[in-house]
Amino acid sequence: MKMMRRSLLAVVLGGLMVQPLVSMAAGDVAAGKTKFATCAACHGADGKGNGGAFPVLTHLNAADAEGILTAFHKGDKAYLAKHKLGGARYAVMAPQTASLSPTDIADLAAYIATLGGGSAQAAAAPAAAAPAAAAPASGTIVADANIGFGHALYSSCAICHGANGEGGKLLNAPKLSGLPASAVSSMLGMYKKGQQLGPYSYVMNAQAKYLTPDEIRDLSAYVSQMNTPDANNNMRQTE
Ligand code: HEC
Ligand code: HEC
Repeated sequence: MKMMRRSLLAVVLGGLMVQPLVSMAAGDVAAGKTKFATCAACHGADGKGNGGAFPVLTHLNAADAEGILTAFHKGDKAYLAKHKLGGARYAVMAPQTASLSPTDIADLAAYIATLGGGSAQAAAAPAAAAPAAAAPASGTIVADANIGFGHALYSSCAICHGANGEGGKLLNAPKLSGLPASAVSSMLGMYKKGQQLGPYSYVMNAQAKYLTPDEIRDLSAYVSQMNTPDANNNMRQTE
């Protein structure tokens, strides 16, 4: 049976495949690339994690990516723990997989495997870049005046996130210091549109609803400048 399938596949794909076939259904890379647009807001179009704000995906092969996404989808925390996932930031990632079908997951996994895999440098593979619409707004130059304005606006955020962006117990507001501007502005943009990122998104949806694009830019610039003594502590918030 297994032999039959293998030899049939070998006939169909003969010569085209360089990578050994894995036992899971092979996803469609092109379809996965399209589906990755929403993921790029956090993980970056190149899968490098938006300047370290989110996990890097470039080390994953298709089988691992498929297993991990399936575990987020099913809420299988034991499996995630084996990959050092499923901790404080589980609630940010899990909802992203809620509506994915097994085919979506296979397609995404096939695409993720093309993002790095340890072989090609992203810079040397421009063809693998994700959709332009999802490109993070990194490298934007923001004037000090904007950062000052962002600081003033931040006073309303400090109640929950702390004066230094250290995070707060009130409604489990996460730590913000250490996030790059591109990540803050993507997330504020998503909250503004009413999207769910974590279990308490309704709080942030209300906060972000009336922010203008300029305000989001200035707040993001200010937040990215914050530096607390524990800014290198990679856990967001321990409850
Ligand atoms: C709102 C931000 C956000 C979005 C959007 C998002 N992710 Fe994630 N992702 C995260 C966070 C945070 C984690 C870490 C979760 C944890 O620690 O349990 C993560 C973890 C992962 C991992 C595991 C990485 C590792 O270290 O092995 C994969 C794979 C992944 N995401 C893929 C995706 C895919 C595919 C999509 C789009 C369907 C997506 N993510 C959308 C925030 C996001
Ligand atoms: C009433 C409390 C409260 C206020 C005020 C508030 N936040 Fe939040 N914020 C939260 C909570 C709770 C979350 C987690 C939401 C979720 O589960 O998706 C959050 C999440 C965020 C995130 C995503 C962080 C991450 O890594 O997931 C950003 C960015 C953010 N807030 C920025 C701001 C900014 C900027 C302001 C001021 C304009 C602000 N917040 C005001 C409670 C608050």
